[in-house]
This record gives sequence, structure tokens and C-alpha cells, in this order.
Amino acid sequence: MRNDIERVLIDEAVIEKRLDAMAMEIARDFPEETLVVIILLKGALVFAADLLRRVPRVLEIECLNVASYHGGTESTGKVDFLDRHFPAVRGRQVLLLDDILDTGRTLHAVHERLRDEGAAAVRTGVLLAKDKTRAVDVTAEYVGFVVGDEFVVGYGLDYLGRYRNLPYVGVLKAAVIECPRTGQPDTAESVNL
Ligand code: XMP
Repeated sequence: MRNDIERVLIDEAVIEKRLDAMAMEIARDFPEETLVVIILLKGALVFAADLLRRVPRVLEIECLNVASYHGGTESTGKVDFLDRHFPAVRGRQVLLLDDILDTGRTLHAVHERLRDEGAAAVRTGVLLAKDKTRAVDVTAEYVGFVVGDEFVVGYGLDYLGRYRNLPYVGVLKAAVIECPRTGQPDTAESVNL
């Protein structure tokens, strides 16, 4: 896998140190009552698992399947909720976790839904935020790292379902995007959760 990576942007040790600090910020900001953590699958899985084990709070974990990318490196702009049931959040303190804040459409859509479902308060954490103008008005209270506006993989983030298990965040070689090992073109219609 390392051969497919052009550059490592954030290595494992740096991520771990930042997660220590983010966990303390979260514990400080949330009241003592039990909070509900909503993890957006699959991208936030690795980040959430490492972050939440550092948060010294009683919490409940829920997962949401939301699709916004459809196999390639560009957001479709459309956000689909794929689960039959939405977690019970009425009157609850919610921490929403995603891998990356890009156009902002995903977090905006989930925020709206959480508000409609009656969440008492919602705070958002992302491992990465792209340094760009968002397509919609949304912010995250907890941001691990700000990265440039380029497609990144690793630490939960994928390309065509791969590279999520890289222990660092990096940029793929252009040749891998042009000719992925799956043999599928970049326009593959598979849902990239
Ligand atoms: P939006 O544009 O809605 O995007 O903020 C959020 C979702 O899009 C995916 N995403 C990426 N996935 N590398 C990835 O592997 C990237 O650079 C990237 N940018 C956005 C991701 O699933 C995120 O939750």
C-alpha cells in the first residue's frame, strides 16, 4: 500500500498526540450527563475508535450510514441516509463524528436531521477539515487537522474502498487514481461509505 502513496501528510504519532488533546476538549465541553456519539460510517470509524477511547465520559455509540461520495474523488453533492432507523437523540447531548469536512454538505444534512429529531445539543468533530470555502454553512467544533484541498486517504479515508487501514493520512499517486488496482474506472458507481 505504501507504494501507492505519493506523500504522507500526517503521520501516526502526530495524529495520536492530537487525539489526546481533542479528547480533553470534548470532555471539558460536554456536561456530565451521558452523551450520544454518532459515527458516520465508514470513514469516521478509525478516527472515532481511537478518539473515543481517550474520552473520559459515559457515552453511547451509534453509527449512521450516509453516502455522499460514489466511488471516486469528487463529492456528488447529494447526501443519502441509508439506514432504516435513525438513532434516538431527542433531548440528548450529541457528539457527531466524521472523517473530513470538505464541501460541508454531509455534516450539514446530518445536522439538520439531528435537529429535526430533537437533539438537545450537537457538537461536531472531524479528523480533517479541507482548507476551502464550504458549499453550505457548517462548522466543526473539534478539528484534528486542516489540510489542503486535495484528495486524501488513510486513517479511515478511502479510495474505491481501499486504504482505510493506513495508519497515517496521505495523498495517493496520480497513477493510482488514473488506474486503480480494481481495474475499475474512476467513475465506478459503487457507493463509497
Ligand atoms: P462533504 O463534501 O459532504 O464530504 O463535506 C464529506 C465526505 O466526503 C468524503 N470525502 C473524502 N474522502 N478523501 C476521502 O477519502 C477525501 O479527500 C475526501 N473528501 C471528502 C468523506 O467520506 C466525507 O465524510
